[in-house]
Amino acid sequence: MIKIFDISKYYNPKFPVLDNVSLHIRPGEFVSIVGQSGTGKTTLVKILTGEERVDSGKVIVGEWDITKLSRNQIPYLRRQIGVIFQDFKLLPKKTLSENIAFALQVCSQSPAKIKKIVPSVLSIVGLEDKGHRYPNEVSGGEQQRAAIARSLVHQPKILLADEPTGNLDSINANEIIELLQKINNFGTTVVLVTHNREIVNRLRKRVITMDEGRIISDQEQGKYIIR
Ligand SMILES: Nc1ncnc2c1ncn2[C@@H]1O[C@H](COP(=O)(O)OP(=O)(O)O)[C@@H](O)[C@H]1O
Ligand SMILES: [Mg+2]
Repeated sequence: MIKIFDISKYYNPKFPVLDNVSLHIRPGEFVSIVGQSGTGKTTLVKILTGEERVDSGKVIVGEWDITKLSRNQIPYLRRQIGVIFQDFKLLPKKTLSENIAFALQVCSQSPAKIKKIVPSVLSIVGLEDKGHRYPNEVSGGEQQRAAIARSLVHQPKILLADEPTGNLDSINANEIIELLQKINNFGTTVVLVTHNREIVNRLRKRVITMDEGRIISDQEQGKYIIR
């Protein structure tokens, strides 16, 4: 599903942010990526979404070498990959339903299709009754669930979650992780970047640990081992 071959990325010519990283993630896997702040996790996520380019190496997503994509192909990549973030990134002046609909409108989907998809993704995340609310009228956990619903509108094969529970209390955080597991059980490959030791240890799934731009450990049913 995701094959990363020996990638390096520099923002500053003296220090690589990613230093010869190689990684294969199989279809349907649930992988956690952990590591201290500043070790390149978000940069890796941005490379997978086409937002950042590598300086060397190759990244295959599905059947595409995304390091060779032209700018106008990136929107097609984005439709195959759902992304959620720590700060939800919902538009404050749109309702939850409108936020989700907007992700389809920008891809010129028909109103009929949008009318069908919005309630179906809201129901996957358990927000069928709250689509009419604005982001500031629901809890943080509900905002993140709406962001997850939005990430699902194109039925992505991969869901990247960059610190999705970073702004949530533990109850809401657990609900988000359960939702990611449910989405994974549908067959979507999930890559979870997190700092949360409890979550990672409870998941008992593959754990990749990064340090200073390198992968220092990759374990099936791994534990959170950094300080
Ligand atoms: N756009 C950028 N320009 C310059 N430096 C950046 C940029 N984005 C991230 N960095 C630096 O790259 C390093 C890795 O950042 P990041 O990938 O966000 O790490 P993490 O998500 O693990 O905290 C940090 O030192 C950060 O300051
Ligand atoms: Mg980060």
